[in-house]
Amino acid sequence: NILQRAPSQHLGPAYRSQEERPSATVSTKVAHENVTVLPQTPQLISLLTMIRDKNTNRADFIFYSNRINRLLVEEALNHLPVLPHTVTTPVGRAYAGVKFEGKICGVSIMRAGEAMEQALRECCRSVRIGKILIQRDEETSKPRLFYDKLPEDISERWALLLDPMLATGGSALMAVDVLRSRGVPEDHILFLNLIASPEGAANFAQKFPKVRIVTAFVDQGLDEKNYIVPGLGDFGDRFYTM
Ligand code: URA
Repeated sequence: NILQRAPSQHLGPAYRSQEERPSATVSTKVAHENVTVLPQTPQLISLLTMIRDKNTNRADFIFYSNRINRLLVEEALNHLPVLPHTVTTPVGRAYAGVKFEGKICGVSIMRAGEAMEQALRECCRSVRIGKILIQRDEETSKPRLFYDKLPEDISERWALLLDPMLATGGSALMAVDVLRSRGVPEDHILFLNLIASPEGAANFAQKFPKVRIVTAFVDQGLDEKNYIVPGLGDFGDRFYTM
């Protein structure tokens, strides 16, 4: 069994004793090297608590999910290679730093993935963004590619695949196949999502061990309708319509 149950953890700074700090359910641990779960800080857990709450209104849902999306993008960018870069400061001293030299592109899985584009644009000015539309085929009930629009030179870019909920992984796995068919190497793909199911993460890690997954939380599982539990319901509905 590679998965552990979601543990409960005391959260909060040390000005209160451990017993006085609230405990909260934190992410399940995942034993796949290619899955990075964001640090389970009080900030992140409070943001996730807001968006999981069925009583949170649409404006708040958008605001708080955007904040988590920013954290995901910042973490994903840490996985890209950098080169040494020394600069001179205004006081005339050298600072030995680094610089990212590659090209990136966002690829959102429509429609929910488009909700993550703003955070990517805020972190990477004028970033190119492609789109993939995958829907369940009525006849076969398997995911089917309906539409894609990707930059011509995508094979030379790091692709940040965006989809907030990794449930069974069907659409995301197909999206990775589309990117690979356009020449993007598997190890140049990073998949960003807010909440993953253990099944979805394991599926992905098995099929594409070189694709990096960056997620805020690995939840307990899937229900009979393949919704993530405890989850947050239908992300697209809550972000775009409710
Ligand atoms: N997509 C969602 O929006 N929510 C889930 O729980 C699973 C897939």
